[in-house]
Amino acid sequence: METLTTTTLLRECIRAQRAQGRRIGFVPTMGNLHAGHLQLVRQATTLADYVVVSIFVNPMQFGPSEDFATYPRTFDADKVALQAEGVDLLFMPEVREIYTDDLEQVTRVEVPGFEGDLCGRFRPGFFTGIATVVTGLFNRVQPDIAVFGEKDYQQLVMIKRMVRDLCMPIEVHGVETVREPDGLAMSSRNGYLDVAERAGAAQLYQVLGEVKAGLEAGGRDFAALEQQAMERLLEAGFKPDYVSIREQDSLRVPGPGSSQLVVLAAATLGTTRLIDNIRLSVT
Ligand code: PAF
Repeated sequence: METLTTTTLLRECIRAQRAQGRRIGFVPTMGNLHAGHLQLVRQATTLADYVVVSIFVNPMQFGPSEDFATYPRTFDADKVALQAEGVDLLFMPEVREIYTDDLEQVTRVEVPGFEGDLCGRFRPGFFTGIATVVTGLFNRVQPDIAVFGEKDYQQLVMIKRMVRDLCMPIEVHGVETVREPDGLAMSSRNGYLDVAERAGAAQLYQVLGEVKAGLEAGGRDFAALEQQAMERLLEAGFKPDYVSIREQDSLRVPGPGSSQLVVLAAATLGTTRLIDNIRLSVT
């Protein structure tokens, strides 16, 4: 596995692979890799001939009071894990390689509808930070295929929309969330949970399962189901930001004919903000 830190060398390497007719697969990450990330890498390996993974903790997607400085950076262990998965190239740029100007001056990519809704309501600038960095990484790697986790469901929908709207020649694939045995979605931020919080954390997924069961049993009072779920989370010791039932593809509030749904939630346990979602079909 080659490790590169500059766009110039990355481009040279990708050009050589393309000249040999290889399809390039790409998995962007912020590192601190767990089994969920490695599942994305495996998916990329099955879809592409040459797999590039990036590790870049993107300052633009962190708010001023968020955990950019303390976000877990475990680069040595990450490299070992990626090597074992047969990744071809690891791109690990410094901040100044991605953002050559002061962050405030950098051109931004904003996908309408994401700032201000769901997580966007609670994390101003978050989705624009992601769309901007992913565009920059796509332009550097120029992949044929890019793989993202379904755990970050809004992110996945936003990236698909951005790729469509900007006509980027990239197939975007989503990969199912990898869970701990008790159902907690794997996340780099799970490491922030103390023992007691970790024991209760899987209740987020349980509550989503209850909303799903309610919908499958014919419940259509979405506001009431969401409210009950918020109360369940409060009882379980979470500080919920939202529980919301949406259409899977558009993330719109469902109407009478909507059949493909996703229930999304974000809630803080102690100081750790967790997100999760569950999809379902109704008739
Ligand atoms: O999902 C993540 O880890 C990040 O949001 C991403 C896509 C790597 C952009 O920084």
